[in-house]
Amino acid sequence: MDDARSPETPLLDAWRHARVPEKRPMQIPGHKMRYLHGAGAWAWDLVGDTVRDDISLQGGVDDNALSHDYVGKAERLWAAAVGADHSRFLVGGSSQGNITAVGTVADQSVPIAIDRTSHRSTQAALVISGAIPVWIRPRLHPEFHLPIGMAASSIAEVGEEVNGFFATSPSYVGTLSDVRALAEAAHARGQALIIDQAWGAHLDFMPQGGAVRQGADVSVTSIHKALTGYSQTAVVSMREGRGFVRPEVLNRWVDMTSTTSPSGTLLATIDAARAAMERDGQARIDMLSEVVVESRRRLAQVPGLIVLDESNAGCALDPLKVTILLPGTGADGVLIGQDLFDLGCGPEVADRDTFVFTVTVSDEPEWVAEFTGMLIDRIEARRSEPRAMAPVAVWRVEPEVVLTPREAFFSDRRRIPLDDAVGEVSAEQFCPYPPGVPLIAPGERVTREAVEQIRAAAKVGRVAYNSDPSLETIEVIDAI
Ligand SMILES: Cc1ncc(COP(=O)(O)O)c(C=O)c1O
Repeated sequence: MDDARSPETPLLDAWRHARVPEKRPMQIPGHKMRYLHGAGAWAWDLVGDTVRDDISLQGGVDDNALSHDYVGKAERLWAAAVGADHSRFLVGGSSQGNITAVGTVADQSVPIAIDRTSHRSTQAALVISGAIPVWIRPRLHPEFHLPIGMAASSIAEVGEEVNGFFATSPSYVGTLSDVRALAEAAHARGQALIIDQAWGAHLDFMPQGGAVRQGADVSVTSIHKALTGYSQTAVVSMREGRGFVRPEVLNRWVDMTSTTSPSGTLLATIDAARAAMERDGQARIDMLSEVVVESRRRLAQVPGLIVLDESNAGCALDPLKVTILLPGTGADGVLIGQDLFDLGCGPEVADRDTFVFTVTVSDEPEWVAEFTGMLIDRIEARRSEPRAMAPVAVWRVEPEVVLTPREAFFSDRRRIPLDDAVGEVSAEQFCPYPPGVPLIAPGERVTREAVEQIRAAAKVGRVAYNSDPSLETIEVIDAI
């Protein structure tokens, strides 16, 4: 870094230099960067705006041999910024990050202990790596039924021999685990800790640091969620010094799962996001945290509304996320979410009882205050008879595991009506989205409760990643 106000940006600089009208590549990208030459290009009316600014990494931002190593330089700067020994930029999101992170500690004979409330991408990680999961769960809030962080005791108490632990922090509702305590518990057993920090890239730039600084061996973080990266951008980072994970293994997984033609533009946005955070991200987060505190304070005055804060959550919270619970107001979060979506300001999560909105470094304080007012108005407009809080099913799944995800994925399967599937073993996932946590995963026994939960989730939102969008049928394992 030159000085505190002008962090180095090798990849962003190279991207800027590559974005010049002299560029007429006789190689990919197929759009030939014609956006540089204006509206005369073929099919400009359809294509022009959609690819504006796209520059390939290979043969664009860098040469064909990647001889300037711009990405490597930017990755090293990222690693230094977040306290890691090694970071890799990804354009397959934290989904790819989770696959690479699990792969890095996976072993086909020794299981890995994984948070059952983790994102669906860990299922892909288990199928691809062949790792056998031992499911662990975060603590649930006794009244709010939301995950409130993985307890260190959940790691200490895993009976089986495992070769690593995987937890999610922040959760979808902004609750944080005590990563230091988790790392101590994992390391005391001689094993690695992976933290899916997809929602918490900003935490890496706060004084207490993100997951890696707090002791995790591997962390995965989306740059497009909490920071300013282009959609799909993420980073996987690791600390090798503790001896639990090796950079060459992480590299093997990243290289196996990466596209061979990443967009230099997407990657450059990671470099830009890091530099922006190093320059004045801390002050921005401090300012917005206060704005969020004020937003929570105003919401807490709404009769019947519960606002998650550190006095009632039972764990630390993401300072930029607001989670409210609506049952005491009688208002339906799905309808409020739809109202706000129609106004162009849809929230992160809105099921009947739980409503979550995400503030990022790109938000202005006035806007957060205005949105808070709009939300309060919508709650009042939708106010009705108070009701009891219905626990969200995905946070409570305790499956009977019959086959490993990989065995189930490669087994023969047959299709049957979902309503007849109770007692069968599922060959596929059913994921209410958000939060993208599977209600049923491949290899798990289908229960009556799970079928009912799928039907209930479909009434209020999207159930995804199963093969029959009508939800009438399910693929089950054939010969069990
Ligand atoms: C906890 C968690 N991990 C990973 C992911 C995947 O992130 P991405 O969309 O960047 O692939 C998500 C997506 O919502 C998530 O909620």
